[in-house]
Amino acid sequence: MKRVGLVGWRGMVGSVLMQRMREENDFALIEPVFFTTSNPGGKAPEFAVGAPPLKDAKNIDELKKLDIIISCQGGDYTNDVFPKLREGGWKGHWIDAASSLRMKDDTVIILDPVNLDVIEASLARGGRNWIGGNCTVSLMMMALGGLFKAGLIEWMTSMTYQAASGAGAQNMRELLTQMGETHRVVKNLLDDPASAILDIDREVAGILRDESFPTANFGVPLAGSLIPWIDKDLGNGQSREEWKGQAETNKILGRTATPIPVDGLCVRIGAMRCHSQALTIKLTRDVPLDEINGILAAHNDWVKVVPNQREVTLKELTPTAVTGTLSVPVGRLRKLGMGPQYLSAFTVGDQLLWGAAEPLRRMLRLLLR
Ligand code: HSE
Repeated sequence: MKRVGLVGWRGMVGSVLMQRMREENDFALIEPVFFTTSNPGGKAPEFAVGAPPLKDAKNIDELKKLDIIISCQGGDYTNDVFPKLREGGWKGHWIDAASSLRMKDDTVIILDPVNLDVIEASLARGGRNWIGGNCTVSLMMMALGGLFKAGLIEWMTSMTYQAASGAGAQNMRELLTQMGETHRVVKNLLDDPASAILDIDREVAGILRDESFPTANFGVPLAGSLIPWIDKDLGNGQSREEWKGQAETNKILGRTATPIPVDGLCVRIGAMRCHSQALTIKLTRDVPLDEINGILAAHNDWVKVVPNQREVTLKELTPTAVTGTLSVPVGRLRKLGMGPQYLSAFTVGDQLLWGAAEPLRRMLRLLLR
C-alpha cells in the first residue's frame, strides 16, 4: 500500500477533504500518515484506524519516506517545504491545494473530469506535481466543460459572486457576526409593524459605517454590502483573482500557447461557501440552444442543466440549493440580444468541494490505480 502523508488536514479545506475521503472509503486503499505543524507526537484522528502518531510537517526526512503527500496547509508551507523535498531528491507525488506552484511548467492543475487527458499525458512523462485549481475557475470549468471540449468558446467573461469561505474560515465567522450586528440594531424597529422602513434603513447604514462594526478580516462590511475586489491588485486594473480566470483555464486545458480569452470582475458577496458566476460566452459558431443544453449536460456526472425558467431557477440555481453538495448546476442559458453567437449562463458550485477538496482526492485515486 502507498504511504500517503496528509498535511493541513485540520483546516477548512483539509476537513472537507477528510470528510470526502471517508465517504469514498479512500483510507482503505492507503497507509495514511498525518502531519502537524503544532502537535508532533499527538494522536492521529480516530477515523484513521492504526495510523501512527502525528509527525512534524517540517521534518523533511519524515516527509521523504512517503510515496504521496497531500497538502492543504497553504502556500507558505508549500514554498518552504516543497523545494527542500525536491532538492533532497524526493521522487514522490505532491498533491497540493495551494496556489504557489500552479503556474510552474512542471505542474498540472488537476480537474480530471475536464482535463484527464492532460493529467494522463503528464503522468506518462513522469509528472509528479499535481495542483488544485482556483475554486472559481474549477467550478466554471465543471459547468462549461462540454462547451470547452467541443471547441465552442471563442472568448468569455466571468462576473463572479464569491462566497465568504473563499477568504477563509475566520471570514465566514465575521460575515455571520456582521449579519447579527446589523439585525441587532434594528430588532426593536423590525418588531414594530408601524415603524418606517426608511428609519430601519438609516439605522442599518449607520451601523455598517460605524467604526465599531466588526471588519477585522474583510476590512469592510460584507453583510448588507459587497466587495468588488478579491485578492491582490496587479497594478494594471486587474485583481489577481481576475487574472487567474484566463491563466488557469488555459493551463487546465493544456493550451497556454493558444489561450482562450477569459476575463471579468470578481466580487465577494455574503454567501457562505458557494461561488456563483454570470458568464457571457462568445461562441465560435451559432449553435442552437437545445444542442448547447445537451452538450453541457453530457460532459460529466456532476453538471446539471437547469431549464431557463423562473421557478426551477429559484429552486435549483442558488447557493442555498447547492451548498454541501457536488452538484454543479448551470442555467440562465439563453442567446443574448447581441446576436446568436452570444450565450449567457449562470452557474453555482460549492467552492470547498469541486472548488478545492474533490480534485485532490480524485488525483490520489488516479495515482492508486
Ligand atoms: N481565491 C478564492 C476566493 C478562493 O477568494 O474566493 C480560493 O481559490
